[in-house]
Amino acid sequence: MPLAFDDLLTRARSLPRDGRRALLGIAGSPGAGKTTLAENLVRALNGDGVCRAAHVPMDGFHLADAELDRLGRRDRKGAPDTFDAAGYAALLRRLREETDEVVYAPGFERVLEQPLAGVLPVPPEARLVVTEGNYLLLPEGPWARVRACLDEVWFCEIAEEERLRRLVARHEEFGKEHAAAVAWARGTDQANADLIAPTRARADLLVPPSALPGRSAGRDPASGA
Ligand SMILES: Nc1ncnc2c1ncn2[C@@H]1O[C@H](COP(=O)(O)OP(=O)(O)O)[C@@H](O)[C@H]1O
Ligand SMILES: [Mg+2]
Repeated sequence: MPLAFDDLLTRARSLPRDGRRALLGIAGSPGAGKTTLAENLVRALNGDGVCRAAHVPMDGFHLADAELDRLGRRDRKGAPDTFDAAGYAALLRRLREETDEVVYAPGFERVLEQPLAGVLPVPPEARLVVTEGNYLLLPEGPWARVRACLDEVWFCEIAEEERLRRLVARHEEFGKEHAAAVAWARGTDQANADLIAPTRARADLLVPPSALPGRSAGRDPASGA
């Protein structure tokens, strides 16, 4: 039987062991469904009102536009070097070690297209942190430290045509004109997708489209998208 969402839920539930907090990573290309999967997992795990899981997006570590301008990298926003990867790795380490107090994570505000500090509290009772983003499996530089902080990393698989369709639709939803949305998806996003695709070989689990939930209701604009 193909993997289903319930199988993912069972596997995610089994990760925190011996009272220790576990960190689950979800990787994949832009538009593959990482954020939607993370939101749905966390919602299902916390369904009865008890906080067992928290969603911490890599997108919160986007460098601010002011810094991208200074670096001359604004037009490549979303590339690996436009994130504070070392800061992300340091937060993941804190989330692992500091389980007796609230740890605040930054989010990414999709309308402003800017990171937003202190918007995602991870309470001590969250035994599982679900983090997701493009570059969790990149072997280079500080990204290798990110992988080392994670118990497992899953990779969202999706047909390229469908991924592009969803990506363009999402850019339009957040304010881009159709032509600009297509250009960004086929240009900047595609260069990033080409870096990410080979990292699927390093994943602990490949998540097929059949296991991915549909669009989530009530997306939180600061939780990353
Ligand atoms: N199973 C699905 N069916 C249809 N649309 C989906 C599905 N999963 C995600 N989407 C939509 O596709 C777009 C990309 O998904 P998202 O989770 O934001 O991907 P990622 O975080 O990997 O970039 C979003 O607009 C999302 O609402
Ligand atoms: Mg996302």
